[in-house]
Amino acid sequence: MTILLAGGAGYIGSHTAVSLLEAGHDVVIVDNYINSSPAAVDRVEELTGRTVTRYRADVTDKAAMTAIFAENTIDCVIHFAGLKAVGESGRVPLRYYRNNLDTTLTLLECMAAAGVKRIVFSSSATVYGDENPVPYVETMRRGGSSHPYGWTKIMMEQIFEDTAKADSDLSVVLLRYFNPIGAHPSGRLGEDPRGVPNNLMPYITQVAVGRRDRLTVFGGDYPTPDGTCRRDYLHIMDLAEGHLRAVEYAMAHTGTEVFNLGTGTPYSVLEIVHAFESASGVAIPCTIGPRRPGDLPQFWADPSKAERVLGWKARRSLEDMCRDSWNWQRQNPMGYGENKE
Ligand code: NAD
Ligand code: UFG
Repeated sequence: MTILLAGGAGYIGSHTAVSLLEAGHDVVIVDNYINSSPAAVDRVEELTGRTVTRYRADVTDKAAMTAIFAENTIDCVIHFAGLKAVGESGRVPLRYYRNNLDTTLTLLECMAAAGVKRIVFSSSATVYGDENPVPYVETMRRGGSSHPYGWTKIMMEQIFEDTAKADSDLSVVLLRYFNPIGAHPSGRLGEDPRGVPNNLMPYITQVAVGRRDRLTVFGGDYPTPDGTCRRDYLHIMDLAEGHLRAVEYAMAHTGTEVFNLGTGTPYSVLEIVHAFESASGVAIPCTIGPRRPGDLPQFWADPSKAERVLGWKARRSLEDMCRDSWNWQRQNPMGYGENKE
């Protein structure tokens, strides 16, 4: 099969590209590199020994996307292309609404014009909002969000559902990711955020490699066992393999289906720090600071539907996640470095 990865040069897309290529599929990557580097695609090719068809294009550019759909026979699309920084989304909400909704609308319109009927979408645990009890189950109602990024995911899920209702041949798989961390075990691919990392694991690895002095733990007074927030961290290669199963599912079904991709086991911020320290042998100085606005005390997945329906289960341990994150950062202290746009 040929699978178009919109935003495929990014953290999740590049690892997913490796899994798809290794399974024998062909991959077309479209990315404008607004938050990634062409070097990641080079490394996907290096790791797999396969060639990726790639386009530098904005997924909101209808003319460019129409041409890409005309030049390639696409069996399925995976839509990773979006802006994802929660805090930034509050400062520049229109940029988030424009980019995230417009990439989705443009892809769906180009797919309709080209007769492509299968799409897998990068949704997020954030759509459960703060009203649902944990663990989150797919049958729960979507909640609201405290930030525009979360609202874009909620709105995009609705757009997909409505579009699939109107076209009975369309197949939509909404993947609600929990907290992906880790890197390809080779250390050649990994997470390379721009500027100060928003997320926990890249912040920790940048402290470990000497790029930052210390970690600030956002809040030590939550109603959790050690007072710090708990999340459902999963290995990026488990997440990548979940996309392979999701594409197979999309090829065989129509309508909209939603899957949580998580492990079902929460870990606190301090547990992550300690696990990283033992996997890497590097001490991570930390200070407990104030809470970060909008953070929920704890959430994790009920991942049983993905296991039952897709045959997917996260297999890698927290130790694997920490070891591979560190392996990546140690080998690439500046990420993709000067290759970054
Ligand atoms: P990322 O920023 O590494 O990847 C997104 C990619 O999309 C980047 O390569 C970026 O350059 C590209 N992109 C953005 N807008 C584009 C546009 N208009 N045209 C072309 N390319 C564009 O992020 P990621 O962590 O790989 O996340 C992928 C998707 O998964 C995003 O939609 C994100 O919201 C979602 N998600 C991520 C997480 C997470 O923790 N990483 C959690 C839940 C959901
Ligand atoms: N944290 C710190 N210090 C840091 C960074 C993070 O203590 O420097 C803490 C956060 O407060 C949180 C935990 O580490 O308790 C995880 O934070 P991340 O930012 O790594 O992840 P979040 O769970 O906040 O965010 C993730 C995705 C978002 C998504 C959200 C759903 O990154 O895309 O889950 O709520 F919207």
